Amino acid sequence: MKKTAVVVIAIIGLAWSAAVAIAGQGPETITIDVVKKAMPAVVFHHHKHQERVKGDCIKCHHKEKAGETALRPCHECHGKIAEAPKFKNAMHKRCKGCHKEMKAAGKNPPLKCNGCHTKK
Ligand code: HEC
Ligand code: HEC
Ligand code: HEC
Ligand code: HEC
Repeated sequence: MKKTAVVVIAIIGLAWSAAVAIAGQGPETITIDVVKKAMPAVVFHHHKHQERVKGDCIKCHHKEKAGETALRPCHECHGKIAEAPKFKNAMHKRCKGCHKEMKAAGKNPPLKCNGCHTKK
């Protein structure tokens, strides 16, 4: 009886820490308007995307170490240092790249320009 209770508490504890690990970090929604010129800005649901990668921040924040939370924004390098691709190209590659894969996997992420460029 006592043993069962301990096991149950341990399981609840594990489930809770897993949920905390993928709880939203950094801004919930980001209006990406770093280079905005010809196109409307992009409204990006950061926390929803963290859930979609199951908390694996490195899928986008590729220059950071797993487990870190004080992550640098992409525009700290893209558009600033010569070795990094231009901000727009980095965004299109990462965002559209995954969206194409997800579409093929049966999900429904935006692929058209006005599916991302929504904010005037
Ligand atoms: C999956 C999301 C996504 C889709 C789809 C997308 N873009 Fe973008 N695009 C972005 C993001 C994010 C930025 C960076 C925005 C910023 O910083 O202003 C960007 C930047 C740009 C920029 C440079 C900023 C500007 O206003 O001049 C242009 C031009 C652009 N996109 C054109 C397009 C066109 C044309 C299409 C359709 C063929 C398209 N994009 C589809 C996400 C997307
Ligand atoms: C699908 C891609 C993606 C994933 C996954 C992702 N992020 Fe982000 N994150 C971004 C983008 C894009 C920005 C805005 C970049 C910019 O403005 O240059 C950002 C910005 C941030 C910022 C703000 C940085 C600043 O100083 O302004 C923090 C903090 C952050 N993310 C933390 C996280 C953490 C922690 C995770 C994982 C739990 C995570 N992100 C997962 C794409 C992502
Ligand atoms: C500390 C600087 C730095 C930060 C922060 C950074 N990048 Fe990069 N990124 C680079 C450099 C440098 C390259 C060139 C290739 C390499 O060194 O990995 C690059 C390459 C890329 C590429 C092209 C290569 C590939 O992996 O397909 C994409 C896409 C990309 N970055 C997206 C992002 C996104 C999205 C963010 C923010 C969530 C981000 N980067 C944050 C420095 C950075
Ligand atoms: C790891 C894969 C992945 C990456 C990287 C990614 N997305 Fe998504 N995105 C998705 C999925 C999956 C959906 C939702 C599909 C569905 O609802 O069926 C989505 C949906 C969206 C939507 C619709 C609103 C919402 O959040 O439900 C927007 C806008 C969007 N993404 C923008 C972006 C931008 C901008 C970037 C790059 C900064 C990006 N995405 C990077 C997988 C990704």
